[in-house]
Amino acid sequence: MKTAKKPKTSSKTQKTAKSPKVAKPTRAVSAASAKYVASGLKPKNETRVEIKPAKGRPMLTWVGKKPLRHAIAYPAQLVESFNVQSSIKNRKSEIWTDWPKDIPQTGLLFHGDNKEVLAHLLANGFRGKVKLIYIDPPFDSGADYVRKVSLRSSNGTSLFDSESYTLGEQVQYTDIWANDNYLQFVYERLSLIKELLDEDGTFWLHCDYRQSHYLKCLCDEVFNRNNFVTEIVWKRSMPRGNVQHGLSVANDSVLVYSKGIEPKWHPPLLPYSDEYMARFTNKDKNGRHYVLDSLISPNPDRPNLDYVWNGVRKVWRVTKDKMAEYEKQGRLEYTSNRIARFKRYMDELKGRPLTTIWDDIFPVNSQADEREDYPTQKPEALLERIIATGTDGGDIVLDCFLGSGTTAVIAQKLGRRWIGADINKGAIQTTAKRLQSVIQERVESAKSKTQTLPGLEDEETPSPAQLGFAVYRVNDYDLQIQHNEAFNLAVEHLGMARTKTDAFFDGTLGKKLVKIVPFNHPVTPLDLEEVRRELNNRPDEERDIVLVGLGKEVAIEAWLDECNKLRKQGNIPNKIEVIELRSDPKYGGFFTHEPAKAKASFKRTDKGVEITIDDFISPTILERLKQQNKHNPLFQPQVNDWRSMVDSVIIDSAFDGKVFNITLADIPEKKKDLVDGKYVVEAKKGATIAVKVTDMLGEEVLVIKSS
Ligand SMILES: C[S@@+](CC[C@H](N)C(=O)[O-])C[C@H]1O[C@@H](n2cnc3c(N)ncnc32)[C@H](O)[C@@H]1O
Repeated sequence: MKTAKKPKTSSKTQKTAKSPKVAKPTRAVSAASAKYVASGLKPKNETRVEIKPAKGRPMLTWVGKKPLRHAIAYPAQLVESFNVQSSIKNRKSEIWTDWPKDIPQTGLLFHGDNKEVLAHLLANGFRGKVKLIYIDPPFDSGADYVRKVSLRSSNGTSLFDSESYTLGEQVQYTDIWANDNYLQFVYERLSLIKELLDEDGTFWLHCDYRQSHYLKCLCDEVFNRNNFVTEIVWKRSMPRGNVQHGLSVANDSVLVYSKGIEPKWHPPLLPYSDEYMARFTNKDKNGRHYVLDSLISPNPDRPNLDYVWNGVRKVWRVTKDKMAEYEKQGRLEYTSNRIARFKRYMDELKGRPLTTIWDDIFPVNSQADEREDYPTQKPEALLERIIATGTDGGDIVLDCFLGSGTTAVIAQKLGRRWIGADINKGAIQTTAKRLQSVIQERVESAKSKTQTLPGLEDEETPSPAQLGFAVYRVNDYDLQIQHNEAFNLAVEHLGMARTKTDAFFDGTLGKKLVKIVPFNHPVTPLDLEEVRRELNNRPDEERDIVLVGLGKEVAIEAWLDECNKLRKQGNIPNKIEVIELRSDPKYGGFFTHEPAKAKASFKRTDKGVEITIDDFISPTILERLKQQNKHNPLFQPQVNDWRSMVDSVIIDSAFDGKVFNITLADIPEKKKDLVDGKYVVEAKKGATIAVKVTDMLGEEVLVIKSS
């Protein structure tokens, strides 16, 4: 293994730091939040939150429609936190007075199913508190959304062509639904979302032609038709790949609803064109530029506006009283034939109003600085306009389909408080990384302006509402990332064809339908019962069924015998079999997950504790490299610098065994940059130091050492 060359600067935030990096420990969670963890938020494990029935009409119906009358709220565990100690001040403490008192006053990032996260927020003091909720749920596109993964650095492997660094695609989330499951899924979330909104709050639902008509009916039902605010058509400059009847789809829709009758609303405005501004040629005695507007009404049929002013009879635009008021204010100027005209001042212009067609915001393209390689990432400019329209500084913004974190990032930049949730660990990792950079950058920019007092209050750099965030887990979706990984390998290993339109079966093997059972448990009779239930709903389905799992419970054999007996008697048409990937004579030898490992050494010096990551190895990455290069039989994956496998390193210099409080983060922003691998942190004698290494596939390894 080659030794690392001169360490490179790793993140924007650490550009000036020399290797090894030195960071002051920050106290990341307060005593209040420690209590929050210890108590799991609520003394009981579960709370039932009630949901008011929707009153709106008309209603869309579907097979299996079930209104959500209550939801179960589970406790959340605090797993990570990031808080910057800085001399720039957050927004004044008054903005936090409505915040539930047991919850830390930071951004909140939840890893979990949003139905559970929303119920958790309702049960923990956020009912009616959120000013704006934006969601960008899956669009029912029938697709798996993947991101392309590759190693860091262009010269890290033993091969030279760039293909060799590719780790292939990693599924981030699946957008395949059976029947009307999609509608039920969104319906339940809408009911919870409405409960969280403040009376003057707004809800923004991003969707496209596939479901927008149904979703509008659902929103009419849940929010009430009278609370429909508007529908924004976001025109993409580059139409999407899908073409319908020769027309490329070039727009998404954003449906906007309010909770109450008077939503907070700051209409978005655009700057005026130079041509328009050039019309302000008149100057008054104070040097103010103005233009003269006609006061004659274009509609002659307005008897109440028909009167004589300054000796001229006309149908005017305004009443006589208003005209007198203008006169008093010195806002009138008269033409040579005595007709009054209105002086409109340039310095009073507010901006050009927009229409509901937004065609000036470009999608995130492959070269964009903001690109995170997260599929379906939305542009920051879009969220900036939305958040600025529906909120003021300090308001709470929520996105429970957070993806790469665009909503949280913009809320953070605009000085709003924010809450985000996603079920995909990759989304949480991407968002956390992005937010760390945004917060650090804000602090650096304030320092460079010697801004030590409360944050600048101009529009470009609003005061941040917070300089940190906490990551919570609601139930354990960590296994999902490994499941996705193993799932794809299994599909490839078996030679299955994936079915993108079937939400229950994962694909076909020859003529048989295949279901892959999650790899976190062996195939059990419950899995088989589930298949039987599904087949009951599909009376015409005659194909045989294959269930694939890593192992199987003993009771399976008896179940299968019974089932196949019934089949012989002609009661059911489908033969069911189980493939055990570990031991099957034909399909056995399947690669099973071997965890990644990291080695680190720790040395106390007069500067603090010096940490060196000596090695990191991920068998999954090596397996992926092998798979990607299988056309080249001589290729043996060999990664010369472990750092090309590593996405980020974070360090907690006083780890309490439960919550990872980030004291130092090394997150190279550019793909070709490597982590440093050498760090210095301040740590008290006897404190536990934890180093978390996350690889390019999102697998995390924790190295812990008592200093
Ligand atoms: C279209 S993407 C959002 C993209 C995001 N607007 C951005 O700018 O990056 C939809 C996200 O919803 C998440 N998601 C899907 N089902 C979910 C659920 N039940 N709970 C939480 N998140 C979910 C997916 O993991 C995915 O990240």
